[in-house]
Amino acid sequence: MSAKLVDLIAAADVPEGEIRRGRLPCGHAVAIYHVDGEFFVTDDVCSHGEASLSEDGSLDGFEVECSWHFGRFDVRSGAPCAMPCEVPLRTWPVKIEDGRVFVDPEAHTL
Ligand code: FES
Repeated sequence: MSAKLVDLIAAADVPEGEIRRGRLPCGHAVAIYHVDGEFFVTDDVCSHGEASLSEDGSLDGFEVECSWHFGRFDVRSGAPCAMPCEVPLRTWPVKIEDGRVFVDPEAHTL
């Protein structure tokens, strides 16, 4: 495994359809999603305001809805898919190994 990969959380700690917060070594907060047996990681903070998607978001399939103003993002790409969100979230490719969720902190989109 690449030495650059960061262990965010145990996969079992993110139940299907739920979101948890993780942190990169630099302190940046990320949201970890479990949808349809797959895991996805995006910025935790909504690009429209200061809402934490892991705390104030809810999953509807592959979309996370921010409860502050009901904007939405596709957790697979970070793309905004409902107003007022217009700026994409960063996303990180996920690797699952030994039941844990890993990302390369430098491999994000944008
Ligand atoms: Fe998320 Fe406004 S803060 S939609």
